[in-house]
Amino acid sequence: MSIFDGKLEIEASAASGIEAVVKRELVALGYAPSGADRGRIRFEGSYLDVMRANMFLRAANRVRIVLTRFPADSFDALFDGVYAYRWQDAIPKRGRVIVNAKSHASKLFALSAVQSVVKKAIAKKLMDAYGLPSLEESGESYDIEVSLDNDVVTLTLDTSGEGLHKRGWRTYLGDAPIRETLASAMLQLSVWKSDRPFIDPFCGSGTIPIEAAMMGRNIASGMMRRFACEEFSLAPAVRDVVQQEAEQLVNREIKLRISGFDIDPNAVKLAMKHARAAGVQNDIHLQTADMRTASSRFRYGVIVTNPPYGERLLSEGEVRELYRDFGRMCDGLKDWSVYAITSYRAFEKYFGRKADKTRKLFNSEIECILYAFLGAKPPANDSSRDAH
Ligand SMILES: C[S@@+](CC[C@H](N)C(=O)[O-])C[C@H]1O[C@@H](n2cnc3c(N)ncnc32)[C@H](O)[C@@H]1O
Repeated sequence: MSIFDGKLEIEASAASGIEAVVKRELVALGYAPSGADRGRIRFEGSYLDVMRANMFLRAANRVRIVLTRFPADSFDALFDGVYAYRWQDAIPKRGRVIVNAKSHASKLFALSAVQSVVKKAIAKKLMDAYGLPSLEESGESYDIEVSLDNDVVTLTLDTSGEGLHKRGWRTYLGDAPIRETLASAMLQLSVWKSDRPFIDPFCGSGTIPIEAAMMGRNIASGMMRRFACEEFSLAPAVRDVVQQEAEQLVNREIKLRISGFDIDPNAVKLAMKHARAAGVQNDIHLQTADMRTASSRFRYGVIVTNPPYGERLLSEGEVRELYRDFGRMCDGLKDWSVYAITSYRAFEKYFGRKADKTRKLFNSEIECILYAFLGAKPPANDSSRDAH
């Protein structure tokens, strides 16, 4: 029996600050996740659940299967612990094994030595199990992570392949795009719901409005891409079942009110290409415009954005002026809530308001703050569609 036929311990990883979002997503998918431990959220499920997690999680970086866990404070103990696992139940004869290591507060901390011992132990077990003098490694890849934490070894198998922020619609890189997973986390941390108007006034290549449209239409984040585990030859073929589930969940009726503006016409062209590739071009109004001119006839809308900061062409004085004008533009939007992520620490001062909530998040390794300015809640009978 392969490991993919039984119960599995599954691990979703998330960037610092967004573990709680991924945990909420897992609960919404019907799982009972554990607390987050160093950016990892664990839950139990079958191989079908591995595929569902890859398909539906919007804010997670990747999904791994936990293979084995044991204590080891010497290389001998590491070798023996790895060898004891039934690798032949996960990796076929021709599987190509790649090992990555990380270590925290452990006696074994020389990563390349850890990596090489683990690789040797896996190779020996596979050669013994398959009766081979050497490994061919001509087949599909199995990406194993060995992680040491306080002298406890955890071995996991990656199932995602490319990071889950790669949704399959981004074909061209704009200037400083925000990761899709972070964009989705910001949206999920905001009060935005698909029936409320939405604007990203600094939309760049369109990441945030596209993620909003995909959420609003309930298009699964993984529908347009493949995952590494689809190649695993000992695993059952479950992609089609999960793809069908995802297709049935798409809301084809909903009317969304999502807009994106950018002052740079090339950025807007790129955003349009991306929106087309994601199949949401009819859900987003994209326009070349200075955000200073943005307005809306709707109430109770939401802005989620990452305004420029630290980019080559903007001096600090220009950034301050831009944030001041951004604050003024937002003041003109009655009852709107505004969420802005930036690494500029004096943002509130120039925006002109103290945030109701702040949260530390990382945008491509740069420590940032997500500032939340909350507007009034729409009344229960929703008048957000009323023009005023
Ligand atoms: C950090 S980037 C946004 C990236 C975007 N979130 C993405 O994923 O591609 C900031 C954007 O603000 C735009 N921008 C700068 N000044 C602007 C203004 N006054 N009005 C509208 N957009 C502006 C820049 O052209 C740039 O595309």
